[in-house]
Amino acid sequence: MRLASIDIGNDALKGYFGNFENDLYIPNIIASAEDRAIIDMEKDPLNAIHVEVTSSALKQNSRKVVVGKLAGKYANNDELTPEQDKSETDQPVILLLTALALDAVQHGEADEDGVITLPYYLSTGLPLDETKRGKTKEFRKKLQTGQHQVTFLKTPLYEGKTVRIQFEKVLVNTEGFAAYIDLTTNDNGSVKNEELLGKTMLINDIGGLSTDSAIITKEAEVDNTNSTGLKTGVSTYLDNIIRKVYAEYKYTINSRRDLVEIIINQDPEEQNHIWKNGQRISIKNFVDEELSTLAKEEYKLIKEMWRNVPDIRMSYQIGGGAVVLRPYLQAINESDSNYPLRFVKAEDSVWMIARAYFKILLMFCDAKGIDVKETVTSK
Ligand SMILES: Nc1ncnc2c1ncn2[C@@H]1O[C@H](COP(=O)(O)OP(=O)(O)OP(=O)(O)O)[C@@H](O)[C@H]1O
Ligand SMILES: [Mg+2]
Repeated sequence: MRLASIDIGNDALKGYFGNFENDLYIPNIIASAEDRAIIDMEKDPLNAIHVEVTSSALKQNSRKVVVGKLAGKYANNDELTPEQDKSETDQPVILLLTALALDAVQHGEADEDGVITLPYYLSTGLPLDETKRGKTKEFRKKLQTGQHQVTFLKTPLYEGKTVRIQFEKVLVNTEGFAAYIDLTTNDNGSVKNEELLGKTMLINDIGGLSTDSAIITKEAEVDNTNSTGLKTGVSTYLDNIIRKVYAEYKYTINSRRDLVEIIINQDPEEQNHIWKNGQRISIKNFVDEELSTLAKEEYKLIKEMWRNVPDIRMSYQIGGGAVVLRPYLQAINESDSNYPLRFVKAEDSVWMIARAYFKILLMFCDAKGIDVKETVTSK
């Protein structure tokens, strides 16, 4: 039995397997691919995931796809759009099963047919607006009672291996509420940031394609009436910057992640600059233009929340989007309402939800008397 927590982000999947040291990050991109040639240089399976996923949880029962970094190189690739529900789309399930298979292939043992079967306790979640619409039960059911199999096709190291994923237990949490759990609980389940308890707070999760605004009540529950979200995240704005930089300088920033590195670089020589033919070029005007537009929109949402629920005591901004928007939001806030806005470290901002799911799973096992000491520490 193995423990896993998976945050299926629109931009990227984040997961922990077995313990907090063993994490996994896969960009949420897939592309259909029947066959492909493995290039000699490919050594790391994560950079070249090619799998066949067969599952009763998929609308299209079986798919041969490349996933993650490799899919980013395919012209016909699919990224999610904000209109698609995570609970009802195939792509999140494909990513989830692929991530589990990558773990299982390293930790399970093959039977005489060469099939690796590994049972999991899985903790995952859905955005607030989907849990509000009651999508949790169905999503849990299709994972827990389904048949799932992943075969590695042209993936280095794992080619030809088949994994059967079984779920002993699936916990489906709410993303925003999970963040609250992370803020108030240590890895071992004890209370942290005690001063947050008993206070109404707002948690804004600014993701790739969406913003989830969860109001947590004094009683530590989600305020279903006032919590809402935006179908906007930071990805579109990052893509705009990449496009503008190309149009102006014929210079290609390869990925959003690379752009984020340029934006948050602490070295003033490097921050908001590209280098072309040995020349240092500032792209700050494009970055400012795009990110302040988004920051204004996010700030409008924050104001609306405070207007509707005046006794919110503080607001945490999390998610990858909060990392790049931080200076812009803070600037607007200083000249506007001076709300108590809080930010966390970049790393925590991105990994908070996945970590929360793992903590919730540990607490669940503890409450059920399931001994996880061995599983958490053993390979
Ligand atoms: N360590 C990091 N520092 C700063 N920005 C990051 C970091 N990692 C990712 N990002 C950027 O933040 C954006 C959103 O990331 P995040 O992982 O929060 O979204 P997501 O959870 O996948 O999306 P959603 O919440 O909409 O489902 C992405 O565009 C990504 O490039
Ligand atoms: Mg997210």
